[in-house]
Formats: sequence, structure tokens, C-alpha cells
Amino acid sequence: MELRGKRVLITGASRGIGESLAHNFAGAGARVALVARSRDSLESLAVELGGTVHPADLSDSTQVSGLIRRVEDDGGPIDVLVNNAGIESTACFTDAPEDELRRVTDVNYLAPAELCRQAIPGMLRRGGGHIVNVSSLSGIVLFPGLVSYSASKAALSHFTAGLRTDFRGLPIGTTLVELGPIPTDLLAKIDNYEPTAKSFQRAYRWGVAVDTPRERVAEEVVKAVLKGRRHVRLPKRSAPLAMLAEAPRRIAEIILTGVPHQAKS
Ligand SMILES: NC(=O)c1ccc[n+]([C@@H]2O[C@H](COP(=O)([O-])OP(=O)(O)OC[C@H]3O[C@@H](n4cnc5c(N)ncnc54)[C@H](OP(=O)(O)O)[C@@H]3O)[C@@H](O)[C@H]2O)c1
Repeated sequence: MELRGKRVLITGASRGIGESLAHNFAGAGARVALVARSRDSLESLAVELGGTVHPADLSDSTQVSGLIRRVEDDGGPIDVLVNNAGIESTACFTDAPEDELRRVTDVNYLAPAELCRQAIPGMLRRGGGHIVNVSSLSGIVLFPGLVSYSASKAALSHFTAGLRTDFRGLPIGTTLVELGPIPTDLLAKIDNYEPTAKSFQRAYRWGVAVDTPRERVAEEVVKAVLKGRRHVRLPKRSAPLAMLAEAPRRIAEIILTGVPHQAKS
């Protein structure tokens, strides 16, 4: 999709990968709509890049409800939805605070899915749109202490493949972003729980994990939207793992060739 003049909503734009995404989408000529909880950070970014600011807590379903309509009422239709906001949970599953599983699932899976539900009908009415869901290699592999996080990212990855199934043949592009370690505030929190920290140290030592700068992630995501690519997998050395995990979905997709994917109304 050409991005010049298009409107791109980015969640989690106040820092980290989302902030870089905002820079790169704006650099490609898009108008950005910035969502996160930290109003001040979003406003400073909007001063720099232009665009609109929509503070919201995505763990609160009452704030997620109607969010796309509110953003579209303030600046026009959304052409690209980038579900980037995410939180980690590093603890043994049964030791985590009581509301942690719900919070992680709400922010990392339910809010992105709900925003897709709100955004896609309008995109279809206007002739097309693109969804970017920022997931993780933790949605494929498991490290101790990351159970809730990994399960939420596995849900997001499978959900994204599900969108492709439901909207096959219609002008809705999807890009699933599967990331290894990216130095940000989120990654720094793995040190909070020793078994998680030690697992990462081992993965780095074995060379299976390697840091990717967030600016590189943003570059690859913008390129993927411009070229209509289904996947961004970083670091590149992780791509075979992600492809293996994707294989059963691809096989089902091929088997279902010719089957109608939308009911006739
Ligand atoms: N960093 C990594 O190693 C890594 C690896 C794989 C995947 N990822 C994924 O990449 C995405 C971005 O992560 P990051 O590393 O950039 O993390 P980060 O630096 O911690 O930034 C997270 C962003 O999400 C926003 N956010 C958090 N909770 C929110 C809530 N309840 N409502 C609205 N916004 C919320 C934060 O803004 P506010 O605090 O202002 O709300 C912030 O803008 C996440 O989905 C993460 O799972 C990261």
C-alpha cells in the first residue's frame, strides 16, 4: 500500500518500538494517530511529527470500546492499524499478581483483536486497509517466567493468520511481526526474574538470540506495509523457526483453496 497521505494508527507510540514506528510511518508520508497512556510523550511526538494524539489505557475495555470511532472522528479514516502496544510479565505463573494474566491478555491480545474488529469494516467500505500486529518469537518458543506473555503473543499470531483466512480475497492486508530481543524498556524487565534472565543469557551465548535495534524493526515494518508483505521476522536468523511454526497454517490455507471465505448475504 502506498503510504503518502494515508492515516496510520499506532498503539504504544509513546516510546520503544512504537515511537520508532511513528517516525518511520511519518517519514513515509503518512499521517499518524498516536495511542498510549502517556499523554505528554504522545504530545511531544505529535509536535515533532504532526498527527493526532489519543491517550487510552488498552487494559481497560471501556476505553478500548469505540476507540477507532473516536480516532476517526478526530482526523479521518484509518488506513493502517498498527497494534504495537504490549506489556511483559516476568514471574513464575502462580507467583504473578492476581490480575496479571488478565492485564497481559487484555493489552497483548484482546485489545488488538478488538481494534481489528472495529477498524476492518470501515476499511472494507472504503476499498481496503492494512493491519500490522506486533507479536514475538515468544509466541513460538517458551522461556521460564514468560508463560502469560508467550500465550498472549501466540494468540495474537494465530489470530492474525485467522484474519487472513476470514478476509481472503478481500483488500485487507496483514503483517505479522515476530520479534526476538529489541533493546527497550520492555526487554530490560526480563532481569526482574532470574530464570528468565538466565534463559536469555544462554540464548545470547548460543547465538540464537541477538539484539535488533528498534529503528531497524520500524524500517522493516514500513517496507512490509508498502510491499504488502505478510511477515516481518527479526532477527533474520529466527525466520526458519517462524516459518516452521507457520507451516500448518499454510498447509490448511492451501487445502482450503476454492472454499468460499465469506458467507453470501
Ligand atoms: N522489546 C522486545 O524485546 C520485544 C520483543 C518481541 C516483541 N515485542 C513487542 O513489541 C511491542 C512494543 O514493545 P516495546 O519493546 O517497544 O515496549 P516498551 O518500550 O515497553 O513500550 C510499550 C508501549 O506500549 C504502551 N502501553 C503499555 N501498556 C499500555 C496500555 N495499558 N495501554 C496503552 N498503551 C500501553 C506503552 O505506553 P504507555 O506506558 O505510555 O501506555 C509504550 O508506548 C510489544 O507488543 C512487545 O510485546 C518487544
